[in-house]
Amino acid sequence: MTAPVRLPWAETRKGPLVLVNRDHPLRSPLVPDLVPLAGGWPDQHLDRTAARMLTECIRAAGGAGVILPVSGWRSRGEQQAIWDRTLETDGPDFTARYVARPGCSEHETGLAVDLALAADVIDPICPAFPRDGVCGRFRALAADYGFIERYTEEKQPITGIGAEPWHFRYVGVPHARLLTENALCLEEYRAFLQQGERTVRLPGGRRVRVGWLPCRSAAVRWTPPAACWQVSGDNDGGFITTVWEG
Ligand code: DAL
Ligand code: ZN
Repeated sequence: MTAPVRLPWAETRKGPLVLVNRDHPLRSPLVPDLVPLAGGWPDQHLDRTAARMLTECIRAAGGAGVILPVSGWRSRGEQQAIWDRTLETDGPDFTARYVARPGCSEHETGLAVDLALAADVIDPICPAFPRDGVCGRFRALAADYGFIERYTEEKQPITGIGAEPWHFRYVGVPHARLLTENALCLEEYRAFLQQGERTVRLPGGRRVRVGWLPCRSAAVRWTPPAACWQVSGDNDGGFITTVWEG
């Protein structure tokens, strides 16, 4: 039997599954554990686990040296500079479509990365990452390495961001599988989990249970049903619980 854990309200704003968008700014800097990203543009960093899984996924897709990470973690100041520059060069409509407002960008979590197919010229805001070939193979494998294609055309009315086939968000394998298999964007995940606990099978066959807990007061208590678990804030008033069975 595991001991109950106390989850303070402030923690709803932190963790690897936080929703970050125009209505859910990143309120607490996540202080990500950043590492340099190999094989892409210089000085790019990503969360340590996300970076390892990205490298493995690129390798599995046969994309080493061909799939380039061009933008990983961004400070608030960098996001502001990108916003200001894009506004000046491409105008407000383009900027609102392809650049998140400073404070509302997943890049500030260290869990999002923009990928490009290697080319002589790469657009830094909208890099080409085709649906076929090696990029298509990466996309097909992404969920098994914990990544979701975050901004699709069909979800644009929900995400408020234009289709970005190059932008991937690390959420971890169980969540990437649930989101992908159910064709959900992250904005839809909380409501999906509120309907009841979900079970998902990892590539190796292990079962994982995913649930959602509201936090309506200063803190909520939760007793993990098994020894291997994770809790993340959802940045929307609750917690997403993940329990690995066996
Ligand atoms: N391009 C994405 C939306 C960002 O700026 O975070
Ligand atoms: Zn991006």
